[in-house]
Amino acid sequence: MKRLVVLVSGQGSNLQAILDACQQGRIHGSVAAVFSNKAEAYGLTRARDAGVPAHVLTADQFADRESFDRQLMLEIDAYAPDLVILAGYMRILSAAFVARYAGRMLNIHPSLLPKYPGLHTHRQAIENGDEEHGTSVHFVTEELDGGPVILQAKVPVFAGDTEEDVTARVQHQEHAIYPLVVSWFVDGRVKMQDGAAWLDNQPLPPEGYAGN
Ligand code: GRF
Repeated sequence: MKRLVVLVSGQGSNLQAILDACQQGRIHGSVAAVFSNKAEAYGLTRARDAGVPAHVLTADQFADRESFDRQLMLEIDAYAPDLVILAGYMRILSAAFVARYAGRMLNIHPSLLPKYPGLHTHRQAIENGDEEHGTSVHFVTEELDGGPVILQAKVPVFAGDTEEDVTARVQHQEHAIYPLVVSWFVDGRVKMQDGAAWLDNQPLPPEGYAGN
């Protein structure tokens, strides 16, 4: 059984999708621990409800990003994870943190990368009149939201949609594709090599598997 560590900052609905997939045997692994940089994150409650150790490290306990991440790495490594999963973890990562988990750290970002890295992706899609929006699961590299994409899911944007409408539509897809990609990783089917994501020994195009 592969060991997963999940980092959250908020609701943790993607965490829940991964916990459920582990419990249902769709992911051949288990969540060993959950970490949050926000004490009030509902994701912590979801972890505890699932019997998973839940830890909080807040920025005010540390002098700088490097010391925060050093302590976080120590605590994560105590669980010897095969994979570190960022699931709504709203913190810039230090270079040392990214390097430590290179090739075994995933993120989900709510846009069709490389479009809209950073914040407020749904708002930008609506304001720009996009008819299509979505979400991307990617390996984490030093470039913010810039690592190789493994899988994307697209959703339509309809005239009159609010940000909430689009968020809900995107999140519905996230809860399907994130556990799927985690299962691929856990089964040894996906890896990062030569700056690209590979699935079943084939390099994936920039849009990931969905782009085929
Ligand atoms: C998701 O939409 C994810 O794409 C983004 O943050 C959101 C987290 O939602 N990175 P949740 O905490 O998993 O409910």
